[in-house]
Amino acid sequence: MTSPLEEHYGYLAIAGRAELYQAAISQTITPGDTIADLGCGVGVLGLQCLRAGASHIYGIDYTDAIELARETMLRAGLDARYTAIRDSTFRAVLPEKVDALICDHVGFFGFDYGIIDMVRDARVRMLKPGGAVIPRRIDPMIAGVSSDSCRALAQQWNEADFPPEYRWLNAYARNTKHAHNIETADLCSPALTVANVALDADGPDRYSFKGTLEIARDCRFDGLAGWFNCELAEGVWMTNSPLAEGHIARSNVFLPCLQSFAVKAGDIVGVSLRFTTAGDMIAWTVTPPGGKPQKMSTWNSRILTQADLAADAGKPPVLDRNGRARLAALALVDGKRTAAEIEAQVIANHPGLFPTAEEASRFIRVELGRLGL
Ligand SMILES: C[S@@+](CC[C@H](N)C(=O)[O-])C[C@H]1O[C@@H](n2cnc3c(N)ncnc32)[C@H](O)[C@@H]1O
Repeated sequence: MTSPLEEHYGYLAIAGRAELYQAAISQTITPGDTIADLGCGVGVLGLQCLRAGASHIYGIDYTDAIELARETMLRAGLDARYTAIRDSTFRAVLPEKVDALICDHVGFFGFDYGIIDMVRDARVRMLKPGGAVIPRRIDPMIAGVSSDSCRALAQQWNEADFPPEYRWLNAYARNTKHAHNIETADLCSPALTVANVALDADGPDRYSFKGTLEIARDCRFDGLAGWFNCELAEGVWMTNSPLAEGHIARSNVFLPCLQSFAVKAGDIVGVSLRFTTAGDMIAWTVTPPGGKPQKMSTWNSRILTQADLAADAGKPPVLDRNGRARLAALALVDGKRTAAEIEAQVIANHPGLFPTAEEASRFIRVELGRLGL
C-alpha cells in the first residue's frame, strides 16, 4: 500500500503539472477569493491559490494527508488563512460559500476517480452562484490498441507459472480498467473523443458513446487505450495523452477485449463506451470487422462478498462480530469515559468477541481512533 508521503510526493513530482495549475489559477482567481480545495491531499493546490492572493482556503481530504496539509500551513505561517477539514467532500459543511473550487481528481481516464459527482455536489453546496471551477471540463479519449504489454495485462492470471486454480480470474482481468503507460506505438487507430464533460455546469448522470475506429495498420487488436484532455481554465489544457507533446506523466488506461483479433489497415472496428458519473463503472463493447460484439464491463470484475451474495432487501440485516464489537464500544462513548476505560469495559463485558484480548484492544482502539478519541 502506498503511504500518504509516497502518494503525494508522486503528485508534487509530476513535471509540468504545477505550472499548468498556476496558469489556470492566475487566470481564474481574483485576490481575496475564498476557495475549496476538494481532495486537497497535502494542500498543494490550495497553497498555490494562497500565493496567488486567495484570502482563505478550505482544504478537504478524508485521509491522513490532511494532517500534513494542516502542519504545512502552520509551519508556513499560513494557518490563519487555511482551514484543514478531515472529511469526505460529500459530507463536509463549510461555514460560507466560496468563490472557486479546485481539485485534481482527474484520474487516468478523466472521470474514473469520481470527479464528476464530487464537483457536482460541491458546486451545489459550497460554491457561490457564478463561482469558478478548476478544472472546468474533461474530454475522455479512446483509441485502438495493439500491444504486447497491454495484452499481457489482459491475460495476467493465465501465465504459465501461475497456479492453475486462479485461471478463472482471467475473465476478471478482461473486464478490468488497467492503469498502464500507453506508448504511441501501441495505438492502431486515430483517437476519438468519448464525451465532453462540463464540470462547471449540470450534466447527465451517465455518459454513453458509440463510434468507429479506422484501423491504421495490419495488426492484432487487443483493446482500447483511454486518457484525458482536461481544460483547467479557458485554453489551459492538462493531458496524459500519449500523442501529446508535453503530456503529464500519469498512467493511461487499457480496456481489454475478451479476445484479441486480427485487423488490417482500413478495417472498421465498432466501439461503444458507457460510464457513470461516480466513475466506478465502465462498460465497453468492441465489434470486430464482420464479427460479433465483445461486451466488457468493470461490473463483471466486481469482487462480491458473502454479504453481497446473500443480500436480500426483505431480510433483516444482522450484526457480525465486528459490528457487535463496534456497537459495544460506541455505546460507551459518553463524553466521560476515557478510551482506555471503554476498551477495558468492552473486553470485560464481551470476553469471547475476539480470539485474544490483544486483538480486541487493537480493534477497539481503531474504532475509537475514528472518533478522534
Ligand atoms: C489525486 S489526489 C490529489 C491531491 C492534491 N489535490 C494534489 O493535487 O496533489 C486526490 C486526493 O483526494 C482525496 N479524496 C478523494 N475523494 C475524496 C472525497 N470524496 N473527499 C475527501 N477527499 C477525497 C484523496 O484522499 C487524495 O488525497
